[in-house]
Amino acid sequence: MTLIKPNKYVGDLIPYVPGKPVEELERELGIKDAVKIASNENPLGPSPLAENAVKEATHSLNRYPDGDAFYLKEKLSKKLGIKPETLIFGNGSNDVIDIAARTFMKLGDEAIFGEYAFIVYPIVTQAVGATSVISPMPNHVHDLRDMHSRITDKTKIIFIANPNNPTGTVVKRDEFEWFIENVPEDILVLVDEAYFEYVDDKDYPNSLEYHNTGKSILTVRTFSKIYGLAGLRLGYGIAHEDIISNMQRVRHPFNSNSLSQVGAIAALDDIEHIERTKRVNSEGLTYVTHELEKMGIRYAPSYTNFVLIDLEDDPMPIYNQLLREGVIVRPVTGYGLKTHLRVTIGTPEENDKFINGIKKVLGK
Ligand SMILES: Cc1ncc(COP(=O)(O)O)c(C=O)c1O
Repeated sequence: MTLIKPNKYVGDLIPYVPGKPVEELERELGIKDAVKIASNENPLGPSPLAENAVKEATHSLNRYPDGDAFYLKEKLSKKLGIKPETLIFGNGSNDVIDIAARTFMKLGDEAIFGEYAFIVYPIVTQAVGATSVISPMPNHVHDLRDMHSRITDKTKIIFIANPNNPTGTVVKRDEFEWFIENVPEDILVLVDEAYFEYVDDKDYPNSLEYHNTGKSILTVRTFSKIYGLAGLRLGYGIAHEDIISNMQRVRHPFNSNSLSQVGAIAALDDIEHIERTKRVNSEGLTYVTHELEKMGIRYAPSYTNFVLIDLEDDPMPIYNQLLREGVIVRPVTGYGLKTHLRVTIGTPEENDKFINGIKKVLGK
């Protein structure tokens, strides 16, 4: 058989490996009541308002969704104080990132991102035949001056995850402002703010505040994290309307489904759920990092709902022993982080189970 072959650059792609569902792991390992703190999801579940709205909307599943997400666009643009034409939606923010790559890059172009940046950037870059230009991340933080120094006349997109996954670290305002001042106007600066709502730091820059600088900035956010709607798949991008209208040409017609649209509209109103999530996360992060310190385990400073821990050894035996304790965390060797694990902050019970599990496994 001589089946069709992909483009060379697609054939060389390393596919994204998602975490296994909790039920599958329980079955495989013969364990019960496992906790999954592996995918940076909201441990409190979806907003109850969103859940109800989604249930009610199921009766019209025979209809195509509103391809332009009219009501959601109205609601979100009012909340953010922006024009509806500056918004684009996607099947998760991954889709928005992919649309940006397909709109602005082609074979032979270059994209710049950090060595431990979110894994989807190299995938979307390579999928269009562009070249990944990697910038080192000292102390697990993006070095925007180094990224700037790597700009060539082939550079089309610079990806900045702020905060970054899997490191949990942020770029501060001073450095971000320097970068925006110095970046050429015709390079797309994609600022991925999937964890924006979790950050509580006065020196953290909100990229939306720089959209009036004349630079090509695309801010990307999601309903998957603090809003607790990862399963619905809804993310969005905000940029100058010319950038967005070009991205709209590439977007698939119905890439945000009807349930995600009504769920997101309701979730935006559920201030209580957001506040509770923030509070539980911040208390959980303080607890987990404090316990890690007591055990002498190093970690990257986190501004998010997860923490990158450094076991200073091969993490896989510890990962596997934690699994047998019913604790599912995330290995990040695919990022070149060879001694680390990423742990999502859970409910107080889940955090306890993790801390007790790791104490037992490490004999602390
Ligand atoms: C930095 C970052 N960006 C984007 C995403 C994609 O999220 P989604 O496609 O669910 O919106 C994630 C998910 O983990 C992330 O960590």
